Amino acid sequence: MSEPTGPTLLDPVQMGRPVGRLDGRRKVLGVAPYAVEHEAEGAAQAAMVASTVPRGRVRSIDATAARALPGVLAVLDHTNAPRVADGEDREFAPLQDDTVWFRRQPVALVVAESSEVAREAAALVAVEYDEEPAEVGLRPDSPRLYTPEKLSDGSESDTSAGDVEAALAAATHVVDETYATPYEHNNPMEPHATIATWHGEDAGLGDGPVLTLVDSTQGVHAVRSSLAPVLGIEPERLEVVAPYVGGGFGSKGAPHVNVVLAALAAKALAPRPVRLTVTRQQMFALVGYRTATIQHFRLGADADGRLTAISHDVLEQSAAIKEFVEQTGSPTRSMYAAPNRRTTHRVARLDVAIPFWMRAPGEMPGMFAHEVAMDELAHRCGLDPIELRVRNEPDVDPETGHPFGRRRLLECLRRGAERFGWEEGPRAPLSRREGDWLVGTGVASSTYPANAMPGNEATVTFEHGCYAVGIGAADIGTGSWTSLTQVTADALGVGLEQIRLGIGDTRYPSASVAGGSSGLSSWGIAITAAARAFREQHGDRPSEGASATAGMPDNPDLQEYALNSYGAHFAKVRVHADTGQIRVPRMLGVFSVGRAVNPTTLRSQFLGGMVMGLSAALFEESVRDPRFGHVVTQDLASYHVAANADVADLDAIWLDDDVETHLNPMGSRGAGEIGIVGSPAAIVNAVFDATGVRVRDLPVTADKLLAGLLPQRERDHVLGDASA
Ligand code: MOS
Repeated sequence: MSEPTGPTLLDPVQMGRPVGRLDGRRKVLGVAPYAVEHEAEGAAQAAMVASTVPRGRVRSIDATAARALPGVLAVLDHTNAPRVADGEDREFAPLQDDTVWFRRQPVALVVAESSEVAREAAALVAVEYDEEPAEVGLRPDSPRLYTPEKLSDGSESDTSAGDVEAALAAATHVVDETYATPYEHNNPMEPHATIATWHGEDAGLGDGPVLTLVDSTQGVHAVRSSLAPVLGIEPERLEVVAPYVGGGFGSKGAPHVNVVLAALAAKALAPRPVRLTVTRQQMFALVGYRTATIQHFRLGADADGRLTAISHDVLEQSAAIKEFVEQTGSPTRSMYAAPNRRTTHRVARLDVAIPFWMRAPGEMPGMFAHEVAMDELAHRCGLDPIELRVRNEPDVDPETGHPFGRRRLLECLRRGAERFGWEEGPRAPLSRREGDWLVGTGVASSTYPANAMPGNEATVTFEHGCYAVGIGAADIGTGSWTSLTQVTADALGVGLEQIRLGIGDTRYPSASVAGGSSGLSSWGIAITAAARAFREQHGDRPSEGASATAGMPDNPDLQEYALNSYGAHFAKVRVHADTGQIRVPRMLGVFSVGRAVNPTTLRSQFLGGMVMGLSAALFEESVRDPRFGHVVTQDLASYHVAANADVADLDAIWLDDDVETHLNPMGSRGAGEIGIVGSPAAIVNAVFDATGVRVRDLPVTADKLLAGLLPQRERDHVLGDASA
């Protein structure tokens, strides 16, 4: 068998430099338009009417009062809305029938001259329902639990090797605990929003667009390929535009019902454009969220702390209207060596809104459970938690037997221990106190798969002495306008000033979404291929108008190697001995992600991920009404995300001699998600070190610590040791 050959690496000249955001000036000046800020002459405004029952049928809709309001242009419901061409995906078939699948599902849409009128009219639409019994809570004894065919990463629901039960029975040290993570909602700064314009087949545009969607999305071509069949439009005639996007965190990785509603309203009012903005409250119902999980984690180890068994059984939920199965157990399959292994997923499709991607879907909650369980095992074995991980480092991928491309987890842990000032040896909880504050430190590993998505293509054209490079990529705030320009410059061997990049528009060749930490990898592969094709065809002195287009070359390495990024998180916490208040004065993340294409934007991704990990550890929790299944914490006052005052000394570094030789020509791997993986576990482990209280359900809030803190205060009193 011949050796697999990976990509030919580019020489980094522009790559590796901390180039400032090329779109920064436009953003600061306010002239980089987000979706609804685009010009749309005479646009009407739409507002959704949401169901008030969790399950049942719409019996009647009375829109008389709404229609009577001056400025109302149309009220659409299932009796009069334009039909979709393909309603198989129920998320994309709103107003097509009278079925109600969850509370807050759109059951009508008001279109008006202004957003104020539309919203007032929406409140006047009177809907009556025939309600049916609903199940809205995730329970271990739910009759709806089933084994899904596949997880959302395409892998099997269940895996097993060896005999886990026998290994656990024979183990010297066992961890057998249940961990839980809550519902969480993505909240990018820019809520989802669309301007839809229905030009029609006969708008005198020849083969021009039938429909234009200016949309806040992580992938214009994903919107096109998902919705063209739904709307019965040839894909080439569905135009999607998204040059600037105010964050996504996965929720904009696919279109949701709001985009379809905008398109249907535009069709009804054609050729008038229609704006539909999702309100912050509606963000908690319509655009995805992270499922809650209940995870039974079991570890068995011998007297030396070598793992003999790893068992991870996951319960989570999906929606009755549409299945989405989070890959919570996936990272467990390749993290540590152990001969006996098992992962399972059981899912209940409840009468609730549809879960979807939220930064590191699966890896974040799964690695929370795994890395807290490892900390518990370290205590039971009397080992330093880093040493426990050293003893369980696998030689090859434990699941597939494939060699790792390169696995530098231990280097991340060691580099981090040195920089953080980690005290080696077994942990001794409750050993440090500063006044009224109990102080602790914690560590956890991190991993995220190195993804490159198929189906990317790029074009390079020489125009006016510059290279115009086009690909339907997205910049959702990560900096891809800048980093892709750097990649393109090196691929063509020219300076940044000679590149004119075009992204965020379906007029450019097809691109995969900014998701799965795969954007820069996937797009960079296509851009480099196009640049190489251009040089082969046109040389170094191209004539005006010379052009080349290329897709992604085959990369056999993707089948031959287990390619992942790794990281180590360290956290210091202070817990108030009386109140249980938790502060996190310090976090450090050390990552192995291949080459830094742009160190400034790379660091921002790590810091953002770590802040989101801090936020998940201490604050984020969506609370459902147990009767109706809708989320009651539906604003940023009651759904708390980490704010400036919560973030103190935050430090992110990476192994700067890292070069990924198997994935892409840049030598990089993705970095958008690894910062949130493992960081919540590091904080929870530090809280245990500080207090001796082991919390196994996120978020860690003061009320979960108080019962455990009280005996400590009493002991202080007895010993006369209450620190001043
Ligand atoms: Mo990310 S949650 O894969 O967009």
